[in-house]
Order: sequence, then structure tokens, then C-alpha cells
Amino acid sequence: MQHPVYTPPSGPPQVNAPSLYGVTGSEALFRLSWEVYQRLGDSGIAHMFPKGDELRAASERQAEFLIGILGGPPLYLQKHGPPRMRARHLPFPIDKAARREWLRCFREALGDGTAHSLSPAQALELMTWLEAFSAWMVNKEG
Ligand code: HEM
Repeated sequence: MQHPVYTPPSGPPQVNAPSLYGVTGSEALFRLSWEVYQRLGDSGIAHMFPKGDELRAASERQAEFLIGILGGPPLYLQKHGPPRMRARHLPFPIDKAARREWLRCFREALGDGTAHSLSPAQALELMTWLEAFSAWMVNKEG
């Protein structure tokens, strides 16, 4: 890696993702991920992300991962192999500020959840899990 790797002392996430796939289904998660990635592509961390069709493809990988971890079919595993999310993020220096920006994009795209087949309480559950999970993606001090 080109940057000194920081390992969060909290270790890997200890909370399970909420089983929301039964509520959302696939389509809402593909749409949500695309809305998140459109924001990421226009955010303070846009330089980390690809543009155009590649941005769309990246959002589809995110949706496939979410579908699996929220209790749906293991699409990400089938198409891309073991998720190893922290390892897959190591090429990108992610500090606290980058994590905050990523979470902001997700939170804004999700809103109160109702545009994405979720109740406000379920949207909150999803955000709470993402906050915990995203801490484990941080790999740069600062
Ligand atoms: C902490 C802030 C985060 C940042 C700054 C970040 C940034 C990135 C970047 C730059 C990529 C590569 C884009 C590409 O595919 O070309 C990526 C890929 C990905 N991220 Fe994140 N990410 C963060 C957190 C998360 C979280 C919390 C999740 C899970 C819900 C996640 C899921 C994914 C997935 C599934 C991929 C595709 C990996 C692959 O197959 O290549 N990311 N992320």
C-alpha cells in the first residue's frame, strides 16, 4: 500500500446488519446505491471514485453487497468472491473525514427511508449499522 495503514483499535464490526432485504427487495437497494454513488461522485471524496458508466458499475457492486448482507441472495460473493471489505478498501486512503463524507452521502440518499421502501425506524437501523461497519474501513490516521 502507498500509505501507512491505520488499524482501528475497535477491530472488526461486532454488530450484525439488520435483515431488511425482505422489506426492500433488490430494486430499491440498486436504486438507493445509485443515489448514494451519484452523491459520492459529487462529494469531497469524488476523486476516489470512477466516473460515468464505471460509477454506475461501482454502485451495482455496492448494491450486490448490501443485498447479501441484509439477508438477500449472495450476489456479491457469487460475482466478485469473498467480500473482504476492509482489504478491498486498502488501496484508498480513508481517514475519519472521508468516512464522515461517505456516511453523509448515504444518509442524504436514504433520507427517512420512505422513498426506498423502508420505514424511518428501519432507515435508522440501516444507518446505525453503516456507522459501525464504516469505522472498520478507516485505514488512515487523522
Ligand atoms: C468509510 C467510508 C468509505 C469510503 C471512503 C469508501 C470508498 C470506496 C471506494 C473509493 C471504492 C472503490 C470504488 C470502485 O468500486 O471503483 C469502494 C468500493 C466499495 N465499497 Fe466502499 N467506502 C466506504 C465505506 C463502505 C461501506 C461502509 C461499505 C459497505 C456497506 C462499502 C462497500 C463497498 C463495496 C461493496 C465496494 C466495491 C468493492 C469491489 O468489489 O471492488 N464501502 N468504496
